[in-house]
Amino acid sequence: MTDYKRILVTAALPYANGPVHIGHMAGVYIPADIYVRYQRAQKRDIKFVCGSDEHGVPITIRAMKEGITPQQVVDKYHAIIKDSFEKMGISLDIYSRTSNKVHHETASDFFKTLYDKGLFEEKETEQFYDEKAKVFLADRYITGTCPICGNPNAYGDQCERCGSSLSPEMLINPHSTLSDAVPIKRKTKHWYFPLQNYEHWLSEWILDGHKEWKPNVYGQCKSWLDTGLQSRAMTRDSNWGIKVPLPDAEGKVLYVWFDAPIGYISATKELTDQWSDYWCKEDTKLIHFIGKDNIVFHCIIFPAMLKAHENFVLPDNVPANEFLNIEGEKVSTSRNWAVWVNEYLVDFPGCEDVLRYVLCSNAPETKDNDFTWKDFQEKNNSELVSIFGNFVNRTFVLMHKLCGGKVPPLHADVLDEDDKALIAYIENAKKKVEENIENYKFRDALFEVIDLSRKGNQYLQKKEPWKKVSSDKEQGTSEANQKSIDNCLHLCLQLTANLSILINPFLPNTSKKMLYMMKVVDKMLDWENAGKTKLLSVGYSLRPPELLFRKIEDAEISLQVEKLKNGLVKPEVASSQAPVSSSEQPSTNQPVNKSTIEYDDFAKLDLKTGIILSAEKVAKADKLLKLEIDLGFEKRTIVSGIALHFKPEEIVGKQVVVVANLAPRKMRGIESNGMILMAEDKEGKLHFVMPENKIDAGLSIT
Ligand code: MF3
Ligand code: ZN
Repeated sequence: MTDYKRILVTAALPYANGPVHIGHMAGVYIPADIYVRYQRAQKRDIKFVCGSDEHGVPITIRAMKEGITPQQVVDKYHAIIKDSFEKMGISLDIYSRTSNKVHHETASDFFKTLYDKGLFEEKETEQFYDEKAKVFLADRYITGTCPICGNPNAYGDQCERCGSSLSPEMLINPHSTLSDAVPIKRKTKHWYFPLQNYEHWLSEWILDGHKEWKPNVYGQCKSWLDTGLQSRAMTRDSNWGIKVPLPDAEGKVLYVWFDAPIGYISATKELTDQWSDYWCKEDTKLIHFIGKDNIVFHCIIFPAMLKAHENFVLPDNVPANEFLNIEGEKVSTSRNWAVWVNEYLVDFPGCEDVLRYVLCSNAPETKDNDFTWKDFQEKNNSELVSIFGNFVNRTFVLMHKLCGGKVPPLHADVLDEDDKALIAYIENAKKKVEENIENYKFRDALFEVIDLSRKGNQYLQKKEPWKKVSSDKEQGTSEANQKSIDNCLHLCLQLTANLSILINPFLPNTSKKMLYMMKVVDKMLDWENAGKTKLLSVGYSLRPPELLFRKIEDAEISLQVEKLKNGLVKPEVASSQAPVSSSEQPSTNQPVNKSTIEYDDFAKLDLKTGIILSAEKVAKADKLLKLEIDLGFEKRTIVSGIALHFKPEEIVGKQVVVVANLAPRKMRGIESNGMILMAEDKEGKLHFVMPENKIDAGLSIT
């Protein structure tokens, strides 16, 4: 590890076009906050910055839909998001926004610097244009009928029903989601950043130099680099955003993914006059916390921009998380399948730490994970209440009952094996928690804290100090027994003090309550105090216990499940709306673009080998071919959207993979019974995926 003097932590700037949901919290903000709180307790020089991402198409679309200005949209959601973060205890040093002046200047200057160095390519291309709304359309904002499955509400980049990736040209009856106009092609000039020029450097920097990055991050980078990088437009036609700072650039703004990451720099500028220490000095450790859909922007594009600019440090790590599904289904903001943080805060007042706990202990660190309300309840009731809370509560109750509410002395002469083992656990826990946090393994770190409290419960159970009290008033408790009671409760209290330090990065409110009960000041939470067993001094009187967590009832849970289901926007309605929340994703091959499925899901597919017996064009549909397929045991008619790629005569006799159990679907009056699988390359060209040598039709593919 290289020596560094200061740490700068950034958390992805959320789009200010909607509130944040628990997937955002689990993936980005809670892990970042845990890391930062831990580093602060270590007394390291650290800054934690974030802000609202207020430019880009999603914002303008939302404004059009709601009949308000983009500024009104971002003002509204900026306030909601900021409030959610504050209430959830996300301890940012600054929550800025990209519509402010500092940011406009910083991003403009950045662009200008690259421009003056001659690093952009100026290119004129044809793009889809909506003549009614008078705007150029991103692929996502063109809808039409899917040529593959007939879904009438497919997007220009993807069909959400059958999952095919599409281009606007492939849609049947394409129209703009903004005005219903049929998009036309129009010439437009933009400034491109030739990423391919940085490919070699990026490979060395990431693939050779950052093998320690998380496998999901490293893997995506490798996949992008192996596929090869291309020039990417860094400007857009729009009137919402940061104006391109060039004379001949009327109506052009910076691409939102060019300006947003620069927002980290602007936010730091706004925070401190020493901002350049954090951005320009080599001994800064820069860490970007993000979700997996942001990997390419933070690991490839933004670093290439920083490298090109030459003045800035590069990230030391980009700990990206995977996605959190809800009740077994992918989060969809357009379908309202999400748990919104601002609503949670109203429904579960005082339970901020519970959500932090559940989201951290179930964080999608290595793969997509599932959030269920049942599990939320279970984790609260059987871990927070029954283990952690229970231990602290028992300790305090017993201490008041058996030791007069004061910290009892420790009698070194009668320390037994169990006492010593507990002391060792306390010392060890510190190391384990620390190591896991430093390595971005927050789930494991949290597990260690809970495990330590579990050890405390086991210790109490074994010692049974309540049984050592003599019921005989005259004789009183024997000296040996009193010593054993003292030692037990002394150690349990020191353990409680340790728990408050260790849990602090994860559950700061809980830690505060514990400090209050122990009547100690914040200073005790300094990380260097963890592992010690002399934190509370003998004879010091403590407050009576307060419950740290409450039980969550079945009724509260069923209410949430109902709320989720009732709030769900039906697919038909949803897909006719533009997905205003979706980020502007690159439409080229994404290394990983679907969530993990279980084996059972895969097993539902009946894949068979087949041979194309005949192929003919479908009248009035330029993209469709009607195929007769031999499946060995029967012949099938399948309508497929491959007409732009192959002439009917050239595919007769080809072997194909067929999804044989797909529900039948009528397309242009023809019933299609199944689907054929093809590979799509970077240029969008389709290829057959079966071997050239002949194999039988009707074989199962397993
Ligand atoms: N707004 C983007 C999203 O929600 C994240 C932007 S991160 C930044 O996916 F680096 F660009 F700021
Ligand atoms: Zn489809």
